[in-house]
Amino acid sequence: MIILGIESSCDDTSAAILEDGKILSVVTHTQNEHIEFGGIIPEIASRAHLKYITAIIKQALTESNKTLEDIDAVGVTHGPGLVGPLLVGVNTAKGLSYSLSKPLIPVNHIEAHIFANFIEHDKEISTPFVVLVVSGGHTELIYVKELGHYELIGKTRDDAAGECIDKVSKMMGLGFPGGKIIDKLASKGDTKFHRFPRGMSDSLDFSFSGLKTSVKVFLEKHDQEFLKANINNIAASFLDSVTDSLAKKLLKAAEKYNCDTVLLAGGVSANSMLRSKLDKIVKSKKMKLFYPSPKYCTDNAAMVAMTAYKKFQLHPSQAGSALDVEAIPFLRLSE
Ligand code: KG4
Ligand code: ZN
Repeated sequence: MIILGIESSCDDTSAAILEDGKILSVVTHTQNEHIEFGGIIPEIASRAHLKYITAIIKQALTESNKTLEDIDAVGVTHGPGLVGPLLVGVNTAKGLSYSLSKPLIPVNHIEAHIFANFIEHDKEISTPFVVLVVSGGHTELIYVKELGHYELIGKTRDDAAGECIDKVSKMMGLGFPGGKIIDKLASKGDTKFHRFPRGMSDSLDFSFSGLKTSVKVFLEKHDQEFLKANINNIAASFLDSVTDSLAKKLLKAAEKYNCDTVLLAGGVSANSMLRSKLDKIVKSKKMKLFYPSPKYCTDNAAMVAMTAYKKFQLHPSQAGSALDVEAIPFLRLSE
């Protein structure tokens, strides 16, 4: 079975071709139009998706040596996300599905981040597991008793972890998005340089706004020369706080729900400090930890194609007619 996956929920225009569970190609265009604004501008994102989506799909087909006629089904992210960007992907997918007379499989963006883990670890992952979905828009702990059944067991009460990282990066004058930049600086810094606070220690919920304020106060208290000389140490101390909260809650959730398998998903799961912290802990506890390669952590259509494939295998009847699929900005995971 050959699936064309399409992703356009935020600022990445992406298309992928999957054949029988194997990714043949994935082409992603990350919009740099937003850098000067320090955040995503939805109207600009929608227009950029419109500009690139056809060329991206064509390139994904060329790189996989397939043609549109080879496609058996189209999978598309239909939410959650920004409505304009979602509409571009959904309507492109509807047009293709309708004209090719092939099923259209609507995919939840969060479910796709979770399924990104199956691109490289399909045979190794078994349910039940707890997954931490951590990105620019989401910080959620989800208990997965079996594939397709999701229980939200913890979430952020304010900023998402990625949002906090991006805002701190902006405060430090490091650019947008900040995740990759701060990750790199932190790898050369000392985590013990300064202890920033850890939020919401008792529950499975997260909070990052106090940490953000604490970094702001710290930056305001010191002169430019000091900050410049200690930029790596500040990045490392800040990420130490973010990753401590994320790792601690994931393990707490695993214990509470009696799972020895834990997964990371979403853009922030590409973070090297988070991965290495968890790698060490799970080894000592004899647990299993999975995370996707960095290219499958941030938004991409390979995870959409994979989710569509799995959903089609589990519930072939759920593949909709092209005309029934809608963009749903606040789409929730089915529980
Ligand atoms: O999953 P994603 O591409 O988009 C959303 O669905 O939000 O995640 C983007 C987020 C951004 O906040 C970005 O700064 C963060 O993921 N990110 C990282 C790293 N790479 C991307 N955060 C920490 N370390 C990284 N290496
Ligand atoms: Zn995402």
